[in-house]
Amino acid sequence: AGCGNRAGGQALSGPGKVLASKLPLPAKFERPLTVPPVMKPVRKDQNADYYELVQRLGDIEVLPGRKTQVMGFDGRFPGPTFETRRNRRAVVRIANELPVPTSTHLHGGVTKPESDGYPTDLVVPKGYPVHELHGGHTEHMAKPEDYIFNQVSKVYDYDLPQRAATLWYHDHRMDFSGPQVYYGLAGMFIVRDDEEDALPLPKGDKEIPLMICDRSFNEDGSFNYPALDRRLKSLPGVEDDYMDGVLGDVMLVNGTPWPTHDVANTRYRLRLLNACNARRLELALSPGPKEGAPFIQIGSDNGLLEKPQEMKTLPMSPAERFDVIVDFSKFDIGTEVILTNLAGADSTEQVMRFRVTRQESDASSIPAKLSNFERLDRSQAVATRSFDFRRGATNQDHDWTINGRGFQVSTYEAEPKVDTVELWKFTSDFHHPVHVHLGHFQVVSRNGGAPEPRDAGWKDTVDVRPYGVVEVLVKFTDFKGRYMIHCHNLEHEDMAMMVNFRTT
Ligand code: C2O
Ligand code: CU
Repeated sequence: AGCGNRAGGQALSGPGKVLASKLPLPAKFERPLTVPPVMKPVRKDQNADYYELVQRLGDIEVLPGRKTQVMGFDGRFPGPTFETRRNRRAVVRIANELPVPTSTHLHGGVTKPESDGYPTDLVVPKGYPVHELHGGHTEHMAKPEDYIFNQVSKVYDYDLPQRAATLWYHDHRMDFSGPQVYYGLAGMFIVRDDEEDALPLPKGDKEIPLMICDRSFNEDGSFNYPALDRRLKSLPGVEDDYMDGVLGDVMLVNGTPWPTHDVANTRYRLRLLNACNARRLELALSPGPKEGAPFIQIGSDNGLLEKPQEMKTLPMSPAERFDVIVDFSKFDIGTEVILTNLAGADSTEQVMRFRVTRQESDASSIPAKLSNFERLDRSQAVATRSFDFRRGATNQDHDWTINGRGFQVSTYEAEPKVDTVELWKFTSDFHHPVHVHLGHFQVVSRNGGAPEPRDAGWKDTVDVRPYGVVEVLVKFTDFKGRYMIHCHNLEHEDMAMMVNFRTT
């Protein structure tokens, strides 16, 4: 496999090093796109919908004719998709039948602290020797007394006091989020509301969640990850080569390598998620439409924009979501439209294929106004804080820092008040997708200038580029307690690029 960097430039796809698969890569555009099943509640009452989800190993066919062992929600990869509604509680019991502890975070969720999936708030499988927990490369960052052990299962109680949006859920275990997400612990979580339901956007089979991630494979079809819990593989610690981030050479969409999907010549709504550990994407369509922009963006991380915006490409750092309309009536029937990745090289330059195969009438449209959007203003900020994301001076393998420190479980970098807005400034020496739990934000500047089109809307993750400065206005609502900010390059996160804050 080639290098993820374009010659000479700062890694467009990176940071990170491409880990080559040890088998011939599967053919592109041969296998159909699949959509994960929708999670069904086991029970409902007037207060909530109740779900039971088991984390277990599963043998699934990721590559044609081979079995890949995944660590999956319901043994699947991706996990089942949640379909929920604003202000309707979703109570999810997650039972852990894996060989390793887990912690599950609802990314983008406005979630009470006990249900937020804190890294040391672990669900421990039956018989797991908790005294062996300290196998991680940041073992000195969390002390034994920092851990909470939930035996076998834990109830995550989501109130969802938030706008309709594409969220996702994934593992957040201290020191091991990288491998455990890579091995499959991730799924989509959709929140809907009346405001969005009333819009004439494409629905049903014309609304498709697309979880995009890269992976590398071993000869036997198993996932190839360079660092692991010793209970899963015998490799000790993280290999230094990959401390910038792990990049694979196989692009998966909803768990299928380079899938193909037949579409009608109508509008489609694509809920795109960059679920890569470390890979940045820049999505485009090839060929482009006969007229107009390839993508009409209608929403970002945390729901609808005020107005649709035309996008030529979609730059997406890990964990970001883009909600877009693609109008396939702008292509001739018979056209094969490749979803490409301009930030990729070699095998990662293509993601999937759409084939426009049929004529259909289209009742959908894109309204000029999408939502009642509350635009934040600098004058609302009651405090200003800075977070500097940087490789530490000692160059140890745990040495990705925020404000000069690696993660410490018992210190707080900020104590914002609920129902206030703060101005947070992120600076960086490298590519760091910065994610804030609980609070959603609006980007107000980049490198001293205006935000970019990609920054539009309510967000929870923002791509901070090398030597970049991004200012955001972040609003905290609903819950008091311990939350975190961290880099969503999962290898950086596992190397302690996290910091607590506490809402009061
Ligand atoms: Cu998607 Cu704290 O993470
Ligand atoms: Cu980072």
